[in-house]
Amino acid sequence: MNKRIVVLASGRGSNFQAVIDAVAAGEIPGHCVALITDNPEAYAIERAENARIPAVVIEYASFPSRDMYERALLAAMQQQGADLFVLAGYMRILGKSIVQAFPGKVVNIHPALLPSFTGLHAQRQAVDYGVKVAGCTVHFVDESLDCGPIILQRCVPVLSDDDEETLAERILEEEHKAFPEAIRLFCEDRLVINGRRVLIQ
Ligand code: GRF
Repeated sequence: MNKRIVVLASGRGSNFQAVIDAVAAGEIPGHCVALITDNPEAYAIERAENARIPAVVIEYASFPSRDMYERALLAAMQQQGADLFVLAGYMRILGKSIVQAFPGKVVNIHPALLPSFTGLHAQRQAVDYGVKVAGCTVHFVDESLDCGPIILQRCVPVLSDDDEETLAERILEEEHKAFPEAIRLFCEDRLVINGRRVLIQ
């Protein structure tokens, strides 16, 4: 069955675009029913408009507390009747109540080979650490930060003259392959979470 996908993004939305393109190419048995963003300036909104996907803005700064923001976000997410929520550069940590409302239904992409380099500036952390291989990880979201069960990873070499920016670009190319692929597997009902491991059937 064609799955209902909701994308959450805060910024430029190149991963969102990769998902839009894969859906348009018929590679994913699903469709994007909405973009939800916390940032009214996000370029992702323009991408949604171009693809005729409704954009819902829930601006963090317009709420008196984090709790109120999360309640509004949860309500907006519940309204969508989504099968899958995709965090495509959504720059806030999802609160416990949201994660618990959609177990096994939220996936994230992180620009590092987890469990290395969680949190912000993962590519800079990789360059500073001196690793020779870096990459990206698509994983289910649970209550931990960047530590839910891993669906897919793709790796790239780290070159001796890399800085944060050049490495981020090389990783981003792999993100644009890994994310649509993981979403395709989800939409084909081929992912089974077994403890920390995700089985691909
Ligand atoms: C990506 O590097 C992604 O891994 C991280 O945030 C960045 C978002 O980029 N979570 P974009 O908005 O998809 O272009």
